[in-house]
Amino acid sequence: MSNISIDFRKSKITGKEIMVYSDEIKKIHMMMNKKANDKKEFLGWLNWPSKYGKREFEKIKKCAKRIQDNSDVLVVIGIGGSYLGARAVIESLTNSFYNLQDKTERKFPQILYVGNNLSSTYINDMIELIQDKNISVNVISKSGTTTEPAIAFRIFRNLLEDKYGIKEAQKRIYVTTDQNKGALKQLADEEGYETFVIPDNIGGRYSVLTPVGLLPIAVAGINIDKLMSGAQFAEEKYNDSELKYNDCYKYAVARNVLYKNNKNIEILACYNPKLHYMIEWWKQLFGESEGKEHKGIFPAGVEFTTDLHSLGQYIQEGQRILFETVLYVAKESSDITINYEEDNLDGLNYLADKTLNYVNKKAMQGTVAAHVAGEVPNIFIKMDKLDEETIGHLIYFFEKACAVSGLLLGVNPFNQPGVEKYKTNMFKLLDKPGYQDKK
Ligand code: PA5
Repeated sequence: MSNISIDFRKSKITGKEIMVYSDEIKKIHMMMNKKANDKKEFLGWLNWPSKYGKREFEKIKKCAKRIQDNSDVLVVIGIGGSYLGARAVIESLTNSFYNLQDKTERKFPQILYVGNNLSSTYINDMIELIQDKNISVNVISKSGTTTEPAIAFRIFRNLLEDKYGIKEAQKRIYVTTDQNKGALKQLADEEGYETFVIPDNIGGRYSVLTPVGLLPIAVAGINIDKLMSGAQFAEEKYNDSELKYNDCYKYAVARNVLYKNNKNIEILACYNPKLHYMIEWWKQLFGESEGKEHKGIFPAGVEFTTDLHSLGQYIQEGQRILFETVLYVAKESSDITINYEEDNLDGLNYLADKTLNYVNKKAMQGTVAAHVAGEVPNIFIKMDKLDEETIGHLIYFFEKACAVSGLLLGVNPFNQPGVEKYKTNMFKLLDKPGYQDKK
C-alpha cells in the first residue's frame, strides 16, 4: 500500500501544544464513531470505505463500461461537491493532457465539466466542441434543485434529444441524486434514466467516494477498487483515538493551534500541476466546512513553482497571517535528464545530467526553507507517488481532518448556511416564485 506521511517539524508549534488537545480529540473521536451510522448525522462518509454498497459499485462499473464503449465524451454536470472531487481524482491520475490526447492514446472518453458556472460562452463553446461527437451525460446534484446544474442539464438534455431522439437520449443520461426527493429525482423517474443514489448522510463535499465521484472517475479508466482500498486503508489508519499516533487528528489540531496564533490563511501548495483540482476540492471541503460564525481559516491554493512568480512575494514578505501545507509527490511517474551542451549559452551546464525531478525537489526544499525563515509555518505532506491507492488515502485523510478541525473550532462542519444568501438575492432578482418576500 502506497503511503502518505506528514511532518510537523517546521510548523513552529511544539508537540506539547498539540498534545494539549488529547482529551478533546478523544471525545470527538468517540462522538463521531458513535454517530457514524445515524441517518440524521452527516457522518456517513466515516465508515463508507469499508461499508459502501457493493451492488451500486458494480452498477457504476457496468455503466462506466457502457459509456466507454458508446461515447467520445462524458459531460459531467454538477457544481461544488458534486463535481470537484471527481475532477480532482481524474486530473491527478490521468495524463496531464488527457482531454487533448489522441483517442487511441487516451483510450477512454474525454471528460468535460459543465453546470459549475452560468457563463453562456462556456456552454456554447463546449457545445461547439462536442456536438459532432458521441456524448453521454452524468448529471449530479444531491438536492436536485441547484440552479447552475439544472440549467446546464436542460440544455444538454435538449441537445441529446435533438441529436439521438428521446429513446436513445434516455440511455445516454445518468443521474446521480437523492434517493427520494428533488426535481431531478422526479425527472429521472419520469424519463427512466439510469439513477445512482447519494447517501442521505453524506454531504456534497464529502461525497467523492460515492457514485458522485466514482462514475466519472471509472469512465476515465481509473481503477475504483484501488481508490476505495486506499480510502479503506486510511479509515483504519486514522481510527486511533490517541492523538500522538494519529496524523490526521494531529493535522486538525495543528491547524487550530496555528489559527489561535493568528495564522488565518492556510495555503495548500503543490509542485505538480496534476494536483490543481485536488487543491480546488480541498479549498471547498475546508472553506465550506469551517467558514462560519465569523470564524475559520481561509483555505487558499498555490501551484509551485508557477505561483512563486506571482504570489511568492506576498507569501515571503506580506502580512504574516499565512501558514503553508505542502502536498509533495516523492516519485513522479516519469523524469527528464538535462543535457550537457558544449557552448553552454544558456548557462545551464551546472545542471547537466541532473533530472528535472531533482531540480523541482531542490526548488521545493529551498522554498520551504525561505518561507519558514520568513515566519510562514510549514506542514509537509509527502505522498510516495500518485496512484489510486494514495489518492483514496489522501481524500479520506482530508475529509476526516476537516470534520475534526471544524469540530475543534466549534462549528458544524457539515452544513453551509451561508451559501443560501446569494441564492435568495439571485432568485429575487430573477422573480423566482416564492422569493419576493424573502430577506
Ligand atoms: O458540499 C456541498 O454540500 C455543496 O458544495 C454542494 O455539493 C453544492 O452546492 C451542490 O449541491 P447539489 O449537489 O445539491 O446540487
